[in-house]
Amino acid sequence: MTESGYDPFDPAVIGDPYPHYRWLREQAPCHYNAERDIYVLSRYADVRAALSNFELFSSTEGVGYERRPVPMMIAYDPPEHTRLRRIVAGRFTPRALAQWHERIEAIAADMVARAVEAGEVDLVEALAGPFPVQVIAEMMDIPMERRADFKRWSDNTVEALGGAVDASPEERAKVEMTIMEFAMYFAEVLRERRPEAADRDDLISLLIRPSDDGEALADHEIISFCVLLLVAGNETTTNLISNTAHHLMRLPDHWQRVVEDPSLIGPLIEEGLRYDAPIQGFFRNTLAETTVAGVTIPRGAKVFLLYGAANRDPAQFPEPDRFRVERNPLEHIAFGFGPHTCLGAHLARLEARILTRHMLERVTCMKPAGEAVRTQNPLLRGMESLPVKIS
Ligand code: HEM
Repeated sequence: MTESGYDPFDPAVIGDPYPHYRWLREQAPCHYNAERDIYVLSRYADVRAALSNFELFSSTEGVGYERRPVPMMIAYDPPEHTRLRRIVAGRFTPRALAQWHERIEAIAADMVARAVEAGEVDLVEALAGPFPVQVIAEMMDIPMERRADFKRWSDNTVEALGGAVDASPEERAKVEMTIMEFAMYFAEVLRERRPEAADRDDLISLLIRPSDDGEALADHEIISFCVLLLVAGNETTTNLISNTAHHLMRLPDHWQRVVEDPSLIGPLIEEGLRYDAPIQGFFRNTLAETTVAGVTIPRGAKVFLLYGAANRDPAQFPEPDRFRVERNPLEHIAFGFGPHTCLGAHLARLEARILTRHMLERVTCMKPAGEAVRTQNPLLRGMESLPVKIS
């Protein structure tokens, strides 16, 4: 523990935040870190209540540590947020996603086959990293040759979301450039695709067409939304896959149980989300003074809402530090809660389930083949590298 009690940017906390979360929940459920000038909420009930209360806990300064309003729905409050969300929501329901099942199956089958053939791979490089990028790129119908740019753009932007505290002017400039490249690329795609949108069924064409109730997005809204999809959907899903694989390898009996009973695939993914939330926490800014757990938070404060700590709260999840494949903790908040609940949750679940099923069908044994390295982002938790031997 640092002098400030808890600092999300401390590398020791990033390495293993869970003992720190226990301290927060038990000793300082509304913790003020003076050095960073942030308030931190860690109990399940408090985090969930704050996520539901956008009138007090606003998203308008962005969800990262820096006060950075961005023209994206993740950084809007209702009613502006509600309007955008209503227009795009229909594209991400389980029914709407059914049209992509076959393609997602094919991508998973191909990637798993290649990994099995190689025998020894870095699971992040071979599967967890490229799989969600390939899926969203195909959904948007983006040409193969731009997919490496896709990955670079989303990685740079995600890095900025978590880092920012000690970023140099060069690093900041790199992020600004990335976002500009991103936006210019989608502006070009949009220009080309608009005339054909009525006859195509890729995701960008669907966003160009008016929604069922006749509302349409403006061009700048489509471009921002495409950028948001890549940033919000790639590293998070990569983290879910790599975290869950990492924990499964430490618990071979769990792997065996899921092999014998594939109906446990769904519960396995939910427990993976709960146990090691791919997004550990996001920020809000307060629009009025409020009190949580006896501590007064002033108006205009930055508040860190720890999904990762809430998901380990014993008041909600008995024996929270045990990974139990049968738990099926559907009330976890790894996808957030309230108006901003993850729009891509069905897609992320679908991808993770399909990939896991292909792994279980093809792989009888998966073992660590070197040191697993964690990512160093204070907001997102995942694996940088996960060398494995598979047969
Ligand atoms: C395991 C994977 C994922 C996790 C853990 C995750 C987590 C989250 C969380 C916690 C939020 C809430 C943000 C907030 O409260 O401010 C969120 C929002 C969002 N997510 Fe995800 N996400 C995942 C995958 C995806 C995917 C695959 C997509 C789409 C391709 C996506 C698109 C979005 C969007 C657009 C939002 C903003 C929703 C809004 O502001 O209304 N996410 N996600």
